[in-house]
Amino acid sequence: MSLPLNSALDRLQLSGIRKFAALAKEVPGCISLTMGEPGENTPDAIKDQVALDLAANMTHYPPNNGHAFLKEAISEFMARQGLAYSPDEIIVTAGATEALYAAATTVLSPGDEVVIPGPGFILYESMTIVNHGTPVVFDTTPTNYQITPEALEAAVTDRTKAIVLTSPNNPTGVILNKDSLAAVAKVARERGIYVICDDVYNQLVYADGYKSFAESYPDLREQTIRVDSFSKPYAMTGWRMGWIAADASFIAQASKIHQYMVSCIPSFLQHAGVEALATDIAPMRKMYRQRRDLVVSRLREMGLDLVEPEGAFYAFPSIEQFGMTSEEFCRRLIFEGGVALTPGVFFNGEGHVRPSFASSYDVLEEGLSRMATFVDGLR
Ligand SMILES: Cc1ncc(COP(=O)(O)O)c(C=O)c1O
Repeated sequence: MSLPLNSALDRLQLSGIRKFAALAKEVPGCISLTMGEPGENTPDAIKDQVALDLAANMTHYPPNNGHAFLKEAISEFMARQGLAYSPDEIIVTAGATEALYAAATTVLSPGDEVVIPGPGFILYESMTIVNHGTPVVFDTTPTNYQITPEALEAAVTDRTKAIVLTSPNNPTGVILNKDSLAAVAKVARERGIYVICDDVYNQLVYADGYKSFAESYPDLREQTIRVDSFSKPYAMTGWRMGWIAADASFIAQASKIHQYMVSCIPSFLQHAGVEALATDIAPMRKMYRQRRDLVVSRLREMGLDLVEPEGAFYAFPSIEQFGMTSEEFCRRLIFEGGVALTPGVFFNGEGHVRPSFASSYDVLEEGLSRMATFVDGLR
């Protein structure tokens, strides 16, 4: 007999995304389009900073919330995006993952509800459950992944403490339009609800006029929590660096979670962070845009419905016409077609699959050709 552990953990599942990536490895020659990370390596100029910092013995504990030079660089970077956060309103975290958990722990008391538009990144549910809150997922599929006032009102209750926004979104690549943001702002203002903005893909945008929630509604600053990451734009997923920016009153409390859980991120990575923020990612954006165009045109040629992704590096076509679950479709595609995608069910998007276009153009082309053959065979 084992002693009971935290009962909230019984409600969590390990990520199904990795399960399918592992399954792909079982099939020799299988092309994996499951990755949620750039196939490219971190640029040399960023990596070189680590060697310098190690040589300078930056191997001691840094300040908990990050070195002043990095928080200043982040503050200036955000100012260029139209976001006014002082260095004291920033915590450098172990990726957006820690930032999101810290945000949830700071906001939630037991029994609070978190409204999560779906399909979305599965972390939001687990961070809510672990904090003894209740995730309330509502489906944005009928409205092309935009948030309508009606759908939002139906999900919000007196216990709602926070809403999570992801724009551009994983897995759909959709950017929340003005009306969606306005619907959230109205409810947040009227009911006093926190808005946790997971904006990790904000630099990977292929449409004009992108505006984040934080930039659009500076008057809601005290209830807006902005999460960003070095992972996606600079190909730094393995570095585990991100940040949380929020009003000083929020940061004062969130700092306690960060301090007691993580303490600080490695000192010798922090100048590299400054270098990353100075990197021009326009060439990367252009490259992803070309891959996005390829994926969209090939999926449409296959006769699959999808909403065109305007950001991030994912598409989310419907496979409903084949009458099988997304897990079954993806499993068969691996073993019969030699290409791996991630089932939509892992994002609360059953009936869809997620090809990532973070792989190189050639790999993507081959993967899509194999998928087209498989889909033809199903008809
Ligand atoms: C929407 C979204 N938020 C957060 C993360 C986590 O990012 P990080 O590597 O910074 O922890 C991911 C990673 O896939 C993501 O897709």
